[in-house]
Amino acid sequence: MDAKITFTVNGRERTVTTDPARPLLDVLREDLGLTGTKYGCGEARCGACTVLINGQRAQSCTTPVANVQGKTVVTIEGLAVGDALHPIQESFLAEGAFQCGYCTPGMIMATAALLNEAPKPTDAQVRQALEPNLCRCCGYPKILKAVHTAAARMGR
Ligand code: FES
Ligand code: FES
Repeated sequence: MDAKITFTVNGRERTVTTDPARPLLDVLREDLGLTGTKYGCGEARCGACTVLINGQRAQSCTTPVANVQGKTVVTIEGLAVGDALHPIQESFLAEGAFQCGYCTPGMIMATAALLNEAPKPTDAQVRQALEPNLCRCCGYPKILKAVHTAAARMGR
């Protein structure tokens, strides 16, 4: 049976009436038009669907939308402020840290969660934090560099 679920997405309160077991990813993409969050595997194994829920990284493909009732969700669309890209986005651009770009929104959201907790992460911390996120183009060295560049920009 459908239920009304209210949560904040990228600073705006949204209410959806839907099956509470539906994946958050589907609600974001299909109901709210936030297609920056990607579908990769659908089973919590690739990180393409990574978003922040109350500031913590989460894989939206396996998060029932009912779980975000009353919570705050941030997607890739919520990072930029107007025309100004977020420093993490700028850093991925500056370092050329993508090829096809399919993994990039998830990588950037995972980086946002990491830098919230560890503003100056070591290589090992970055590798551990991004380990759930796969890049089928194998752009890992540049992604690692972009995370450090973002940390430096955000620390200024
Ligand atoms: S689509 Fe969610 S982890 Fe792969
Ligand atoms: S840039 Fe293609 S999957 Fe990562």
